[in-house]
Amino acid sequence: TPRAPPASVLVPRLVVSLLSVSNCSSCCCPPDCDCIWTDWIDVSYPDSSDRNSGDYETFENILKHNSSWVCAKAENISCRAEQFPDVSIEDLGQKVECNVNTGLICNNSDQVIGGIVPMPVCLNYEISLCCVPDIPECIPSTTPSTTTTPPSSTMSTVSRPPVSTTAPMPTPSEFPIRTTSTTMPPSSTTSSTTGTMTTGTGTTAPTPTTASTFPT
Ligand SMILES: *[C@@H]1O[C@H](CO)[C@@H](O)[C@H](O)[C@H]1NC(C)=O
Ligand SMILES: *[C@@H]1O[C@H](CO)[C@@H](O)[C@H](O)[C@H]1NC(C)=O
Ligand SMILES: *[C@@H]1O[C@H](CO)[C@@H](O)[C@H](O)[C@H]1NC(C)=O
Repeated sequence: TPRAPPASVLVPRLVVSLLSVSNCSSCCCPPDCDCIWTDWIDVSYPDSSDRNSGDYETFENILKHNSSWVCAKAENISCRAEQFPDVSIEDLGQKVECNVNTGLICNNSDQVIGGIVPMPVCLNYEISLCCVPDIPECIPSTTPSTTTTPPSSTMSTVSRPPVSTTAPMPTPSEFPIRTTSTTMPPSSTTSSTTGTMTTGTGTTAPTPTTASTFPT
């Protein structure tokens, strides 16, 4: 009776195949587009003496504080009170908007007496965003490039071999080249979605001090 091959014969093959699969550092792996959580961001502080104030950790405000800040695509957001990092906002009893598309908004005027703090004002909040890596492969361009090439309407009259001995005249205007060249300029994909910087207060550009005065 044929006996099953000993297990020691099977093992090497298994090891080899595992190695060939896992040894994928140089092959064609698609980029890892999982989002990455930022550090806790806190650029705005509530003014408890101003009923019309609040805490505004919005993308706009973050950009105002750091113009090089980039979150190409926020996929998730986490919001917490600085003082109570482990208490959910619900349990804090504050009315806070924590929105992955805009950031955090807390209006003092929305708060009521009876929350975790005696005054009906916003706590200081901080947010963390889960941002997709800022590489083109991970950021879908807004204009989906139509990969379907237009049907080439060039009648292939060339395929027939010339029968007559006279060399055919080169007819340059034979092919109406209407290849709609889809070479789009690389749209600056790094522009954040909410790039609307409203006229902030005092965002004066620093005047260059190149005109150094030399003693004559
Ligand atoms: C500004 O944002 C950039 C990009 O996210 C970051 O590397 C840098 O540390 C930030 N600077 C400050 C002062 O937060
Ligand atoms: C956002 O992150 C939290 C964990 O911090 C997770 O529980 C939740 O499912 C995530 N939401 C989405 C839409 O990925
Ligand atoms: C905060 O106040 C502004 C202006 O009154 C209002 O437009 C916005 O909806 C309020 N946000 C929240 C979360 O209540």
